[in-house]
Amino acid sequence: MGLKLSVVFTSACLLALGAGLAQAHADAVSASAVVQNVVASAESPNGQLHVDISIDGEGRLSYAVTRAGKLVIAPSRLGFVLANTPKLDGGFAAGAITHASHDETWEQPWGERQFVRDHYNEVRVEAVQAAQGNRRLAVVFRVFDDGVGFRYEFPDQSQLREVRITDELTEFHVADMATAWWALGGELSNLEYLYKQTPLDQVSQAQTPVTLKTQTGTYISIHEAALVDYAAIWLRRTDGQTLRAQLAPSSLGPAVVRQAPFNTPWRTMIISNTATDLPMSNIELNLNAPNALGDVSWVKPYKYVGIWWEMHLDKATWSSGPRHGATTANAEHYIDFAAKNGFRGVLVEGWNKGWDGTWYGNGADFSYTEPYPDFDIKAVSAYGLKKGVHLIGHHETGGNIAHYEDQMDDALKLDQSLGIDSVKTGYVHEFGAARMRAPDGSIFYGNTDSQQAVQHYLKNVITAAKYHVAIDTHEPVKDTGLRRTYPNWVSREGARGQEYNAWGNPINPPEHDVNLVFTRMLAGPMDYTPGILSLEGNKKDLYSTQAKQLALYVVLYSPIQMAADLPENYDKYPKAFQFIKDVAVDWADTQVLNGEVGDYVTFARKDRHSEDWYIGSITDENARTLSVPLSFLTPGVTYEAQIYRDGPKADLKGDARFDMVIETRAVTCTDTLTLTLAPGGGEAIRFTPVKGKARTSAKAVRK
Ligand code: NOJ
Ligand code: CA
Repeated sequence: MGLKLSVVFTSACLLALGAGLAQAHADAVSASAVVQNVVASAESPNGQLHVDISIDGEGRLSYAVTRAGKLVIAPSRLGFVLANTPKLDGGFAAGAITHASHDETWEQPWGERQFVRDHYNEVRVEAVQAAQGNRRLAVVFRVFDDGVGFRYEFPDQSQLREVRITDELTEFHVADMATAWWALGGELSNLEYLYKQTPLDQVSQAQTPVTLKTQTGTYISIHEAALVDYAAIWLRRTDGQTLRAQLAPSSLGPAVVRQAPFNTPWRTMIISNTATDLPMSNIELNLNAPNALGDVSWVKPYKYVGIWWEMHLDKATWSSGPRHGATTANAEHYIDFAAKNGFRGVLVEGWNKGWDGTWYGNGADFSYTEPYPDFDIKAVSAYGLKKGVHLIGHHETGGNIAHYEDQMDDALKLDQSLGIDSVKTGYVHEFGAARMRAPDGSIFYGNTDSQQAVQHYLKNVITAAKYHVAIDTHEPVKDTGLRRTYPNWVSREGARGQEYNAWGNPINPPEHDVNLVFTRMLAGPMDYTPGILSLEGNKKDLYSTQAKQLALYVVLYSPIQMAADLPENYDKYPKAFQFIKDVAVDWADTQVLNGEVGDYVTFARKDRHSEDWYIGSITDENARTLSVPLSFLTPGVTYEAQIYRDGPKADLKGDARFDMVIETRAVTCTDTLTLTLAPGGGEAIRFTPVKGKARTSAKAVRK
């Protein structure tokens, strides 16, 4: 009987497959009618994604992407406008064409998963401009099962030594009508805008990643990888469904000035059938170079607390005076709290001289080596180390990069001598007004996406590595996966974080965190600073249940996670706080169990240092009931599920946000849990293997 059933099933599958192939063939015909003058192609290892590179009758370079024979990216332009010489656009003929394949699994020192497979087929086309003395430009495409990356290579040649790029002509012509989730790029509040959801043809200029869902249900996330010594791109819509790479301008002249040979960053597209595949993609990391720092065992994932939220609530000040937050006594109080609750780090902001003037947008008064007199940095760091707690340094620059660079080496040297092995940096300024030093020594004002700022951010990380210090950048340039090459670049901000829930206008709406998962988080770890169990900002209430604050630790990945609330608030909610104490920060594996962009998402992650698994699930302003099979758990093992879920009365506003049920259940991999999320809600679960019989709480415990 079983055999017969399986035979019927197989033939049904074959029929379905046959129909699919016929459909794919029909689409392929229509795609090939559009994609012409193809000079080279490459296909993903599973044969689903296909890239064509074309050179048209006028010698213009373009590319197109199809998936299962259906056009995803219609023919889109490639090339450059240069300041000092005719443009690299038109007049090209194909030169050398090479193909390569790669399949390797590499290990991350820390991350969302321990092992990463890097599997792609590659094609490289050299395009030759005969009218320019056979000047060459190469374009390289890597086609993965889950997306495409491509970059330009400027070969070593006497015809083009100094390359002065004013414009990159790279286009992304999305074939189908699509919805876009995007945030303004190149605007004043750099990278800290709310995400919008609009038709693609209403995008103006967006930061990346931009996430799209086409009418036919294909998800595309466009971004870049390995942004080194080059201007960041924004995506500017030029026409209809076409986005163009807009290089962040430089105040010194052309957007990019480089000496050949060099390569541009990769332009990337994750392409998938489901929203849940987007955060599962490793393209971003795979397109970065391997670890360049050697032994990085000194880079530690950890949880931390700090003198931080009290300033955002205006209960204390960064500046000196009677309400100064960073005093010796207050820091030692936080160290005691950290030691008692198992946190490795204590962040102290406002510790150093320079906060008293107009630091915002000036930054010229900051000293990165001199503490305020009421903060005995030597005594405090030694006090911490005795208890196994490391201070986390803070270098707020106010966007004065030149001033910071003058002291950077000394500051990081001091940090190392005090056992401070990670530093949070900050660049609060009006976008476009960061102060930098030109090669001739003069000061100029520029933006933090420019080539010069990109150079600075990486210089900071590389200098820190010399002193075995990890960096967490606030007001950063966007993440492009450089943590693979420089694993001490542990985290960054680069979107609206929790601080907006203290003083933002508006504060973060309930869909914000879910939007982040499918946009900003596709770039890499974010120091969002979750865990505000008081659910209270400065005069405003968070649009979040308490359970959602817990779930964020699993949902928003960062190898360093802050417990951002005040110690006295954690003392008020010891049972909820237990989850923050327990939750892991370094993962052996990550799975996205369900989700839809901007609506809801559920992550399962396995701790890298124990057999525990965790689930974090969050929703927007809508309640959801989600069915979650626990098939990720190890077969044959019984786990105790420690569940922190929205209670029956839980809701987006008022006291209902605190309605949380904490209960335990014995589960195995054959069980399915039903998660019931309140509006603005979430659920957090720790699964820990049990020997013998697991506890199942007879009665739900509140709070
Ligand atoms: C903005 C950062 O995001 C925040 O975390 C920090 O407290 C302030 N700047 C002050 O440096
Ligand atoms: Ca910020």
